[in-house]
Amino acid sequence: VEPDVVTDVLIVGSGPAGASAALALSTYGVPNIVVTRYASLADTPRAHITNQRTMEVLRDLGVEQEVVAKATPQHLMGDTTFCTSLAGEELGRVRSWGNDPLVQAAHDLASPTRMCDMPQHLMEPVLVDAAVARGTQLRFSTVYKSFVQDADGVTVTVEDRLRGDEYTIRAQYLIGADGGRSQVAEDAGLPMGGQMGVAGSINIVFDADLSKYTAHRPSTLYWVLAPGATVGGIGAGLVRCVRPWNEWLIVWGYDVTAGAPDLTTEYAESVVRKLVGDDEIPVTIKSSSAWTVNEMYAETYSNGRVFCAGDATHRHPPSNGLGSNTSIQDSYNLAWKLKLVLEGTASPKLLDSYTAERAPIGRQIVTRANKSIGETAPIFEALDGLSPQTPEQLWANIAARKEDTEAAQKQRTKLREAIAFKVYEFNAHGVDLNQRYTSEAILPDGTPDPGFDRDPELYHQPTSRPGAKLPHAWITSGTRTLSTLDTVGQGRFTLITGIGGADWVRAAEAQGPKIATVVIGPGQEYEDPYGDWARLSEVADGGALLVRPDGYVAFRHATAAASGEEAERLLTEAVRRILGHA
Ligand code: FDA
Repeated sequence: VEPDVVTDVLIVGSGPAGASAALALSTYGVPNIVVTRYASLADTPRAHITNQRTMEVLRDLGVEQEVVAKATPQHLMGDTTFCTSLAGEELGRVRSWGNDPLVQAAHDLASPTRMCDMPQHLMEPVLVDAAVARGTQLRFSTVYKSFVQDADGVTVTVEDRLRGDEYTIRAQYLIGADGGRSQVAEDAGLPMGGQMGVAGSINIVFDADLSKYTAHRPSTLYWVLAPGATVGGIGAGLVRCVRPWNEWLIVWGYDVTAGAPDLTTEYAESVVRKLVGDDEIPVTIKSSSAWTVNEMYAETYSNGRVFCAGDATHRHPPSNGLGSNTSIQDSYNLAWKLKLVLEGTASPKLLDSYTAERAPIGRQIVTRANKSIGETAPIFEALDGLSPQTPEQLWANIAARKEDTEAAQKQRTKLREAIAFKVYEFNAHGVDLNQRYTSEAILPDGTPDPGFDRDPELYHQPTSRPGAKLPHAWITSGTRTLSTLDTVGQGRFTLITGIGGADWVRAAEAQGPKIATVVIGPGQEYEDPYGDWARLSEVADGGALLVRPDGYVAFRHATAAASGEEAERLLTEAVRRILGHA
């Protein structure tokens, strides 16, 4: 039977994973169609924390400035506050999301981009609009039903919800970016580890002018330790800023064994009043929905020509703000590989590196996010608030910390330390940036793994070792200042070298796939006036880095090649292996 529609890549889902896959593919000139279940993009704020690695992806895809213009800036994200309610007593704060001066410096050194808070209902239109402008065909109200694959492609049956009929789309590859209840992942039989439904949570979206409780301690997150706040949920009650300071989202837990409460407006309002602690402020409830905390990750991200990305492969609570970040980075990892395979430059073997590179990260972030929930408990413990007790007892324990006694001093120390420990959720710069890939698309250079000098979850450690993201350094070209990251990407490989690396440049120019060349040094196209690149490159001036389209170093040679032939032999072999032709 002839398919009704033909394309190169069919993407199911227009969330962060699907939209960014479409954007990357269209940017690279790969024909693609997106089908998505609903008549609109996300209508609630959902994921929001947007980290530097994601901003680097958006920068390469040409939408960074638009996101920055629409997002809440980093300096308004950072005073994560623990309190008994917004109007109530404050227990302490954590400088978060790069707003600690030392971490801020680390952020500045790590990337040309800044973290920001970009709620999903604002992010999706930016990604989707740019994708459509560059060629993506988008079909709303279109539901994925099933797929059949053979040696040459995938035939997908979809349902048009407007017309009520079904049709088929034939694609070379299918991307299941259909979220935490992914039908594509299920139909592809992707093996999953972990469990779903660990705890129950409710999201309540509402409008209220809360500036009198928040503007003086600007933050994305306000955590409320109220009676009942340890039941289900994500560690405590959460008041999250959607737009400063009048659009909000509350997360409140429920006992998953008892089932979700009836989400009436009265119920939602009672939760809002409890967490805000002010009955006078006008509140407009916009929506409420129940969801469960999951701890699940796919061990394999693909089956034949079917690839999954985003929540389809990793399902976890919002702690650490990793959901859409990881989803966008999954798709960015996959898109250039699909492009090179579709155009015949790479062997389909290259696609195996997708699981090899992304599945360990999916598993890591699922574990990290769930661990963060548990790490809120010591704050309650410091207030003796975990054991079943009356609200009066919790308030008495909170009041007791103000006394001039040894016991109260101990309690103050315990509370301070418990709050400070939450940097693992709110300032985990290493979790955001330290990904290291091991796969057939990365060629080890024989150097031993140096490990990390400091806690790898908290501190970013740049390296040019194959498998790491190219280190960021500010360099110049004429009067222009740019990041080393700005010289790579754009869907192509880049060879970076310096004075003495002419053999590498010639070898790169002789390769089949187009490789851009970047020479950094005095009198060259790019200069390193601050010496930053010299400090970070970990190779001699005449050495070479071959950087993949996603900015990851695939091959490194510490010194100049012995000869022109040697450079060509080494680089040709490297490219052959990276592209899966070996
Ligand atoms: P996402 O779920 O965003 O997108 C899935 C897409 O697939 C949607 O476009 C959907 O319409 C489509 N789809 C599904 N089935 C389909 C089918 N059969 N046919 C066609 N299309 C189909 N995270 C966070 O960090 N903080 C938060 O507060 C929240 N809050 C939150 C609330 C709600 C209601 C949800 C659903 C999720 C969150 N999240 C969150 C999680 C966060 O939204 C999530 O990690 C990312 O959106 C994942 O992006 P994906 O693109 O993978 O899936």
